[in-house]
Amino acid sequence: MYSDDLKNSYPIFDTHSHYDDERFDEIRDELFEEMNQNGVCGVVTCGCDAASSKKALKMAEDYDFVYAAVGIHPGNIDSGTTVEQIRALAAHKKCVAIGEIGLDYYWVDDNKQSQIEIFEKQILLAKELDLPILVHDRDAHGDTLDILKKHKPKGVVHCYSGSVEMAQEIIKLGMYIGVGGVITFKNAKKLPDVVKIIPDELLLVETDCPYLAPEPYRGKLCHSGMIKFTAQKIAEIRGTTTQNILELTSKNAKILFNIK
Ligand code: NI
Repeated sequence: MYSDDLKNSYPIFDTHSHYDDERFDEIRDELFEEMNQNGVCGVVTCGCDAASSKKALKMAEDYDFVYAAVGIHPGNIDSGTTVEQIRALAAHKKCVAIGEIGLDYYWVDDNKQSQIEIFEKQILLAKELDLPILVHDRDAHGDTLDILKKHKPKGVVHCYSGSVEMAQEIIKLGMYIGVGGVITFKNAKKLPDVVKIIPDELLLVETDCPYLAPEPYRGKLCHSGMIKFTAQKIAEIRGTTTQNILELTSKNAKILFNIK
């Protein structure tokens, strides 16, 4: 799975992934081994409901460098998963965050109130358990920012897609900004300007795999090793080296997720 251009010796910490996806079923063991041999020192795989959160915890048990997040994704609020179930799953020693949680008005916008309610309940849970949150915000920038300002949780806005102005507000809250493969796409209009202003200590990298593979792998099955290309692009925009971006983002991830 690792062609020569993916070989890498710098530390890669993928702060957002979905390795429970069935597309990984046949290749997961081999892929994880190759990732681990090529610098991937940490991966957070996220749950979207109880079933996928349990799968995330199982993977975290099976592989040392894999950590789990548990939560109810805004697209899965009808899954029947309750916040109490998430509370129970979050007690696992390799659960490092509550996520993926947030608001998504792109796919469904006729249940905004329920989305907001479940999001806020999970933020309160995270605060009670002293865990960071992994925030999904798609076409819901205004409401997402209002809720983050109201509760001031610790965590990361993943696969950031908002404006520079909103990024400034998130930075003021001390929250991290997750940058994914989209930064390598030609149509990433506002994102390069956002990437310029994120302070070193609040920058994170991620895949959201199996989705959003960076160039030159756009459209292919994505995995954490491809973060090399995301980091390369971020380094170019910030006038530094890929090594520097990978080292500082790995350090930031370990601080956020309290990994020794
Ligand atoms: Ni995701």
